[in-house]
Amino acid sequence: MPPSPRSSLATSFNAIAALYAAVRPGYPPELFAMVEEFAGRPLDGADVLDVGAGTGIATRLLAERGARVVAVEPGAGMAAELRSALPRIPLVRGDGEALPFADGVADVVTYAQSWHWTDPARSVPEAVRVLRPGGALALWWNVPDTDVPWLARQEARLAERCPAYRPPGFPATVAGLLAPFGLDTRSGTVRWSRTITVEDRLRTLGSHSYLAVMSAAEADAVLSAERVELLARFPDGVLVEPFVVDVTVALRGSAAVRG
Ligand SMILES: C[S@@+](CC[C@H](N)C(=O)[O-])C[C@H]1O[C@@H](n2cnc3c(N)ncnc32)[C@H](O)[C@@H]1O
Repeated sequence: MPPSPRSSLATSFNAIAALYAAVRPGYPPELFAMVEEFAGRPLDGADVLDVGAGTGIATRLLAERGARVVAVEPGAGMAAELRSALPRIPLVRGDGEALPFADGVADVVTYAQSWHWTDPARSVPEAVRVLRPGGALALWWNVPDTDVPWLARQEARLAERCPAYRPPGFPATVAGLLAPFGLDTRSGTVRWSRTITVEDRLRTLGSHSYLAVMSAAEADAVLSAERVELLARFPDGVLVEPFVVDVTVALRGSAAVRG
């Protein structure tokens, strides 16, 4: 089955890949510890396919944890950033809906905020096909912690001003979407934060697909308004950006996948 055509939102990252690499947040060590706990195995020594690897933010951290990682990325711009940042890590241009790998080659398949760009009806059977029996499909998203009022207000303004806005993270229950495939799933959350300048917060916003698809003038107008709001709230020009990482791990049993 050929992969489904990707939307302009899914491919919008390629034009802003350098910005993405410069400003997007990483992931905390506690996330990888949770993936290991749910997967029932260490990442150290595991064969990992990091799908939708982008500029390699998660790929690098997986490799630092001892995994033998192959990065999988469909987009030319994002792949070029990854190749220059992580020249020793194998990179395959490919799509999660038609993984260019043989059956049973991976211990873990990861999607670091990229699974929502795939159609689960295609990407889940593909992940299961390339996993060894007992292997794990790990999906996670860094989501702004909207229990924090200034962030909730900012997301609401962006939703109002950006026609293509989609809430960060996954819009449905990931475990619910995986259930029809007969996979054993576990989900959890990890809270963490980073301290950045107001300007970097604005650049981070600009790396989101809903702003990347707007004209430069429209995006600048949104970001200028956000600069005024943020400097009123953080006059020193520095803020703490709080995140919740939503993580779900699905285990491949020895039975064939349903899908
Ligand atoms: C938000 S970025 C995440 C990048 C990286 N994993 C990270 O943690 O920063 C989403 C990535 O998914 C990729 N992507 C879009 N559609 C995809 C698909 N069908 N299969 C695999 N990756 C896809 C995009 O090209 C982009 O690099």
